[in-house]
Amino acid sequence: MNLKTIVTPKFPQLSYTVYGSGQAIILIHGFPLDGSIWHEVATEVAKKYMVIVPDLPGSGQSTFAGDTLSVEDMAESIQLILQAEGITKAIIAGHSMGGYAAMAFAELYPQSIAGLGMIHSTAAADTEEKKEQRRKSIALFNKEGGKDPFIRQMIPALFAESAKTALKEAINTVTELALLTESRSLTAFYNAMINRPDRKPILYNSKVPVMWAIGEDDSIIPAKNLTQQTSLSNVNFVHTYGNCGHMSMIEKPEDLIENFISFAAYCYEVANK
Ligand code: MLT
Repeated sequence: MNLKTIVTPKFPQLSYTVYGSGQAIILIHGFPLDGSIWHEVATEVAKKYMVIVPDLPGSGQSTFAGDTLSVEDMAESIQLILQAEGITKAIIAGHSMGGYAAMAFAELYPQSIAGLGMIHSTAAADTEEKKEQRRKSIALFNKEGGKDPFIRQMIPALFAESAKTALKEAINTVTELALLTESRSLTAFYNAMINRPDRKPILYNSKVPVMWAIGEDDSIIPAKNLTQQTSLSNVNFVHTYGNCGHMSMIEKPEDLIENFISFAAYCYEVANK
């Protein structure tokens, strides 16, 4: 694996990790994590494909890129990485917030996408209630001592209740990772999510195959909210994992790895041949 960095006026330091070689799959992390969350999955998928794992601006090794970061900016950062690697077409898969960026990518750069992966994510916009909740959280991030308790409460809630004891160590590791994200990045990410539009029409109009990974016990993006979306595109690979919350890359890594590999085989050997 190889850590690389791009420097542009808009993205002062944009870092990403390249695993393996061949046709490309981009794995975008969710909130409030960084690319390292994909390490296990990326290592395995890279036995067959090139896997590129960015740190979104303001996460991991990538520096903060301003308060007004949008999911479209995140998509632009992914496009810059593809250009830097000389890749004309890739599978773009995102976890949760990373999926919102992947949807924006599908809208902005349709010529560059070979397949779309929605991993515990949705094409819908936030409801008004969700926006209000996020605004309250933003107020907390900006209060002295407000961020850490938020993270410590939020991260365990991403996992299925039934697996919390078995995954205690992993949950602690993810919590420590999330605590590294600065308050200003958390705020920028929540604002980006509040401002994102409904992209279900993109799913409906897109020609690319879509892979869905859904946790039966996901309380952040509940399975029942996705029923309509998973049949909007022409070709959908829908995987629903039992005893799984919002974090299949940790809760069900073997299933997710296998599903990525068969999806990529379809995208590259059938759909985009
Ligand atoms: C994520 O996992 O990226 C976030 O929970 C997504 C969200 O809050 O909508």
